[in-house]
Amino acid sequence: MEEENRIVTTGFTEEDRDVELKLRPRVISEYIGQHKVKENLKIFIEAAKKRGEPLDHVLLYGPPGLGKTTLAGVIANEMGVNIRITSGPAIEKPGDLAALLTNLQPNDILFIDEIHRLSRSVEEVLYPAMEDFALDIIIGKGPSAKSIRLDLPKFTLIGATTRAGNLSNPLRDRFGVISRLEVYSDEDLQQIVTRSSGILGADIDTRGSKEIASRSRGTPRIANRLLRRVRDFAQVEHDGIITAEIADGALDRLEIDRSGLDKTDKTMLQALIHSFGGGPVGLETLAAIIGEDSTTIEDVYEPFLLQKGLISRTPRGRIATKNAYDYLGLPYDINK
Ligand code: ADE
Repeated sequence: MEEENRIVTTGFTEEDRDVELKLRPRVISEYIGQHKVKENLKIFIEAAKKRGEPLDHVLLYGPPGLGKTTLAGVIANEMGVNIRITSGPAIEKPGDLAALLTNLQPNDILFIDEIHRLSRSVEEVLYPAMEDFALDIIIGKGPSAKSIRLDLPKFTLIGATTRAGNLSNPLRDRFGVISRLEVYSDEDLQQIVTRSSGILGADIDTRGSKEIASRSRGTPRIANRLLRRVRDFAQVEHDGIITAEIADGALDRLEIDRSGLDKTDKTMLQALIHSFGGGPVGLETLAAIIGEDSTTIEDVYEPFLLQKGLISRTPRGRIATKNAYDYLGLPYDINK
C-alpha cells in the first residue's frame, strides 16, 4: 500500500491539517510528553526573555509525527514572537531564503522543516545568517564582482529533521540547542487522546483512551487520527461514547492490531521470514519487495518495528527477531 494511504502513516495528510490546527497545544504547559526536551527549553526560553535576546538556534530531530512543528509553534508563543514556517524543499534558491530572512522582525522564529533537504547553495546563505545575522550578497560577475554584507534582524532558526546524521557538520554546529524528540509512552499518548477528545467534544472513557493510545505507535499524529475514526464508529453504530470495546472493534475493522501494526508491517515481517529465512536482508532488497523506496523504509516503517523489537539492524542487513516469530505465531529456531 502507498505510504500516504495507510491510516497509520506518520506523514501529514490533507485531513490532518485542519484538525491538527485545532488540537495543537499553544503553550508549553499544554504540550504533553517530551519531558526532558521541554524542561530544557523552558530554561532557555526564560533566560533569552530575561536578556531580551532571541532564543539560540534550535535543531529538533526524531521520527515524523512527534510534533516538531507543534513544538516550534509553542516556543514562538512562549517567546512572544512571530513564526514563519517553511521547509527545505520549498526554499529552492538562495534568493528565496534571503527574502524570508529580510522579512523577519527582531527575535522572530524561522522554522525550516526537513532542513536536511536544503540545497548546498541555500545552506551557504544560512551560515552567516545564523552566525552573524548577516547576508552576504555578491554583486556583479567575474573579476569585478563585489560582496556586500547586509545586516539582518536577530532571529532564531528552528530546524526540524528526521535525520540529524544527514545534516552537514557546518550546519549542525551552528545550532546552540539540539534536541531529540522521543517516541511517546502509552501514558503520554493517553493524555493526548483525552485532551483531543475534550477539544473535539467526543465522549471517551479511560479504558477507551488507553486502547487508542496503545495502538498509536508512539505517535500523537496517529493517536489523533485513530481517535477521529473510532469516534465515527461510536457515533454511527453506538451511542457515541468511546469505550475500550468500541475502540477495539473499530481498530480491528481498520486492521490495526493490538500492537498498532497494520497489514504493511506484517507483509514486511512475513517477507523477511518466509522469503529470506529471517534475514539478514539488505535494505534495498527489502525495499523492492515492499514496493517502497529505501528512505521510506528507514524513516517510516523501521523505527516502529525496531522500537517494538520485531526486527533488528545488523551490519549485514535486517533480521527478524524471536519477537517477530512469536508475534506471527511461527516456530523460532534457537540455533539460527
Ligand atoms: N498534539 C500533538 N502533539 C501533542 C503534544 N505533545 N501534546 C499535546 N497535544 C499534542
